Amino acid sequence: MQSKLRVEPPQSQAAPADQTERVNGHKALISELQDQRKKIRQGGGAARVEAQHSKGKLTARERILRLLDEGTFQEIDAYITHRHSDFGMNQQRYPGDSVVVGFGKIGGRRVCVAAQDFTVLGGSFSEVQGQKVAKIIDLALESGVPVICLNDSVGARIQEGVYSLAAYSELFWRNTQASGVIPQISVMLGPCAGGSVYSPGLTDFVIMTQGESHMFITGPEVIKTVTAEEVDMETLGGAMTHASLSGVAHFVGANEDASFATARKLLSYLPSNNTESAPRVTPTDDPTRADAALDALVPCEGSQMYDMREAIDRIFDLGSFFEAHARFAPNAVVGFARLNGEVAAVIANQPAYAAGVLDINASDKIARFIRFSDAFNIPLITFVDCPGFMPGTVQEHGGIIRHGAKIVYAYSEATVPKLAVITRKAYGGAYIVLSSKCIRTDLVYAWPTAEIAVMGAEGAVNILYGKELKQMKDDAETERARLVGEFRQKFSGPYSSAASGHVDDVILPSETRVKLIAALDFLRDKQAASLPKKHGNMPV
Ligand code: HXC
Repeated sequence: MQSKLRVEPPQSQAAPADQTERVNGHKALISELQDQRKKIRQGGGAARVEAQHSKGKLTARERILRLLDEGTFQEIDAYITHRHSDFGMNQQRYPGDSVVVGFGKIGGRRVCVAAQDFTVLGGSFSEVQGQKVAKIIDLALESGVPVICLNDSVGARIQEGVYSLAAYSELFWRNTQASGVIPQISVMLGPCAGGSVYSPGLTDFVIMTQGESHMFITGPEVIKTVTAEEVDMETLGGAMTHASLSGVAHFVGANEDASFATARKLLSYLPSNNTESAPRVTPTDDPTRADAALDALVPCEGSQMYDMREAIDRIFDLGSFFEAHARFAPNAVVGFARLNGEVAAVIANQPAYAAGVLDINASDKIARFIRFSDAFNIPLITFVDCPGFMPGTVQEHGGIIRHGAKIVYAYSEATVPKLAVITRKAYGGAYIVLSSKCIRTDLVYAWPTAEIAVMGAEGAVNILYGKELKQMKDDAETERARLVGEFRQKFSGPYSSAASGHVDDVILPSETRVKLIAALDFLRDKQAASLPKKHGNMPV
């Protein structure tokens, strides 16, 4: 039977001529887009890209591709251009201007990224750069993902005057709003001069690239003019200077790829925002592992040194300790590590350097690390072996009082789980500020080698019996030795502090791993309320 259905030709079926026209029209549009993209990829032009490469530096887009997981980068705002015309600026318009921004993934996790493009007017900070960076930080905040800024810039775009300065303000304002909400990481890959150092200075971690990055408020020429001091760029603001002297840099990469690797590794320890926990990994180490070498690590003689890093390496998941600020204030150690796959913030004195004394720089290093970790829900684990605060006019006049106060402020303010292990000396102010029980440390453990006292035995005997000893003639030294021994007997060892409840348990060093894993597991849902206030007034 013949079908009654009549098949109509499709309405959209166009005549061949129209079709060709439309295809050609699409081809033209696609070709235009491809041309635009090609132009965008050229940045400031082939010659400047060549100049960048000849300095051993990558371009902004090349850097982003190296930093992010392959194939994940999505650029935005690549067409935006500046609107200025003074000083010949109408001849200097480049699509996207002097920064490349967008989003992508690192280790499979979402991030936002901004990379200054030195090939466009030296990566100078323009009104447009400010708008683009502001937009990407806003997106990062709304999406709750970290932002990474790759810095390589001559500073404010002089031709744009106050527009450039205002754009910087927008960035600094956003850095401040984002602080404590999403992790902010600065990777330094070139010059960073003038006020532009304040954006990296406001971010959580600064990674400098050796020999390639420099940070300073005023450069060598200005310094020479104003103070007659002569200094080269590297000494003034190179990676080693900021990593070891000023503390501005937390990490140093030997080259660009090493800096990107550091950024990627750092992110693997951090949550994406302040409402999340740090990423857990499948444990690769036995949670019950008891390392017998720990039991003999701390010398019984208080004047002998040992490397606290060795203790950390043996206690935490093997190979997981990632030290930050390693070259700055080496009398203290801070970094992230994993315990049974969970991230913890490690803070420690380093008896192998200046006996682990607390000074101004160590105080700043410890306090800032604690505040970052608390803001991002990373539990604090502190290892204490400290003879006290560094004496002397240099420290006193430098403000050790207000710097040291930052440590106690940071620990007291922190609401994350807090654990402490006293490995040897915990004297006086150092005992109090370094995660002591009464500043609300959840659990304090002590090793049998712990000594908890107001001060060292010799100093205490001098203060308590100095006059009597001076009056004694022949027997003074014998009596002094007896009194020192008596004092040590009373305070050396953790048992009097354990008896008073200032130490929760005395443990074998080899048990530390098991104890800390159990304590962290127990405290995982810790709730701690703070009094309502606008914000505290931490000493600075
Ligand atoms: C616009 C600039 C510029 C600027 C340099 N350029 N500085 N464009 N605004 N501020 C241009 C150059 O003309 C050049 O353009 C390109 O950028 C690269 O600069 P070069 O000097 O050729 O590069 P290089 O030899 O590598 O030297 C880099 C440098 C040097 C060491 C950073 O440029 C320098 O010392 N600059 C001064 C740094 C400084 O003091 N900045 C502070 C600015 S004041 P072409 O066309 O040749 O590619 C400031 C205040 C901010 O930032 C306050 C914020 C709150």
